[in-house]
Amino acid sequence: MRLDKFISDQVGVSRSRAKELIRNGSVSVGGINRISDDTKIDPEKDEIFVNSIQILYRQYLYIMLNKPAGTICAVKDRLSPTVLELLPPPLRRKGLFPAGRLDKDTEGFVFITDDGALAHRMLSPKSHVEKEYEVTLEKPAQSCYKGLFAAGLTIDGGEKCLPADITFTDDPHVVRLVICEGKYHQVKRMAQAVGNSVIHLKRVRIGGIHLDPSLAPGECREIMHKEVEEICAKKR
Ligand code: URA
Repeated sequence: MRLDKFISDQVGVSRSRAKELIRNGSVSVGGINRISDDTKIDPEKDEIFVNSIQILYRQYLYIMLNKPAGTICAVKDRLSPTVLELLPPPLRRKGLFPAGRLDKDTEGFVFITDDGALAHRMLSPKSHVEKEYEVTLEKPAQSCYKGLFAAGLTIDGGEKCLPADITFTDDPHVVRLVICEGKYHQVKRMAQAVGNSVIHLKRVRIGGIHLDPSLAPGECREIMHKEVEEICAKKR
């Protein structure tokens, strides 16, 4: 692979900026920085540094973000900050997108990647990937919810939901809800269907991967290859 392409892809800068970094000596390959932009490198083997920071080759990036309320799950938005704007520079690159959407006021686990095939698999309705939410309700949860959610609720407009699993917590206003589909505003509409409403919503798990409790809202971390396949696991 050409060095300027590697820098452009892995650092998320334009090809011309990559060439500039190479020409001004900011880039070294195997400790040598007198190199040209068409230098051929082996991304798996060569040690490449930009401004003394090692650039580790990843064909794809997989990122867990703890989305704060007020941000939008989109690549670009004219009015509100997007989840991509929260990524620190080492995790920024072209082609990243949030796989799936949370509402602007919802918090928690957003999966960001540039691996279209994996995202497609995760989001496919046929995959039935579980999503777990911590739901704060306006009114206390009732014991009948367990059976109603398990039977498959019909939400406004007559849409039928797949069976969902609700778990009660010590706080009667807080439940854990596991759904395996992603209809528009699904959790909020399910709460409405049983005469309640959601006042706070946080996604805490996708497939077999739990939101890392050490991530404060707005923080993210990479999900490494060995862990990422779990994102499509149907069950915990
Ligand atoms: N269900 C909702 O209602 N909102 C979300 O953001 C996610 C699931």
